[in-house]
Amino acid sequence: MHTLLIVDDDPDVLATLTRSFRKGYKTLSASGGAAALEILNTQPVDLIICDQRMPDIGGDQVLSHASQVQPESIRILLTGYTDIESLLTCVNDAHIYKYVTKPWDPAELNLSVVRALESLDLKRELDTARELLESAYKDAVVMLCLAAEGKDQDTSSHLYRVQDYTEALALAMDVDADYAEHMGLMSMLHDIGKLATPDAILKKPGALTDEEWEIMKEHSLAGVRILGNNPFYEMAREISAGHHENYDGSGYPKGLIGENIPLSARIVKLADVFDALTTKRPYKEAWSMEDALVNIAAQSGKMFDPNIVAKFKKLYGDGVLSQIKDAH
Ligand SMILES: [Fe+2]
Repeated sequence: MHTLLIVDDDPDVLATLTRSFRKGYKTLSASGGAAALEILNTQPVDLIICDQRMPDIGGDQVLSHASQVQPESIRILLTGYTDIESLLTCVNDAHIYKYVTKPWDPAELNLSVVRALESLDLKRELDTARELLESAYKDAVVMLCLAAEGKDQDTSSHLYRVQDYTEALALAMDVDADYAEHMGLMSMLHDIGKLATPDAILKKPGALTDEEWEIMKEHSLAGVRILGNNPFYEMAREISAGHHENYDGSGYPKGLIGENIPLSARIVKLADVFDALTTKRPYKEAWSMEDALVNIAAQSGKMFDPNIVAKFKKLYGDGVLSQIKDAH
């Protein structure tokens, strides 16, 4: 059931309106601006019908406040006179749905309320559907990565840590929060091309031959092929293609140099290497973060972008890297 808030300092108007919406709605009433603010601060309200001129706090201020604390609410201004300036304030600051002049036509007001609430319900349904879709594709990315990377817990933790190191580094490089979050998610796909690498090479216990190593290196571009051409995965393709490129041009597959390597790939490269160094693998013990950072600093300007290395050191100093490691 929808909740309506009716605000008017005139007791007769307040009673009439409250009565007319009693059926089918939960109605709250306030006999002034201050009482209305109190309700808005404490209870969810779907729609507000608010008088414009009130002795304590005006309707324009009440509705502006509502647009801030409950932005989704539908706001209708009830006005006994036409003060253009105040009306403009309502339109611009309170984003009102409509204004109704006194005396109002009850049938018309009722219809407006019904229509407004229908559109509110539709918007909520769309928001829910969008959230569901968003979580579904994020889960699909994770599932695909886990399937590709092998099934053990160590590997899935690796992916989550790379995701978090990547997001933290992206934020440190001053990209906006949504972009950084997207980069984190896309980082999980960096080795998706290993789906195309034969298990005999991927899981070979000893050192790879030169020929096997060449096949292993193909996972960068195999990932790009697997990731198709959907624009949503553009960054994932950049990361897959570029996460084995080196800043000085000595990497593979293209030998790109410096900022010709996309920022996302330069960031994920560092996140991936740092995590590989600081975790136990079948062929090595886990290094301390300090040792890993010394090694990474020695590769600044060679394997890694010096700016990103500097930001990474700062994240270490701020305790962010330890937090991430402890979280997974
Ligand atoms: Fe890789």
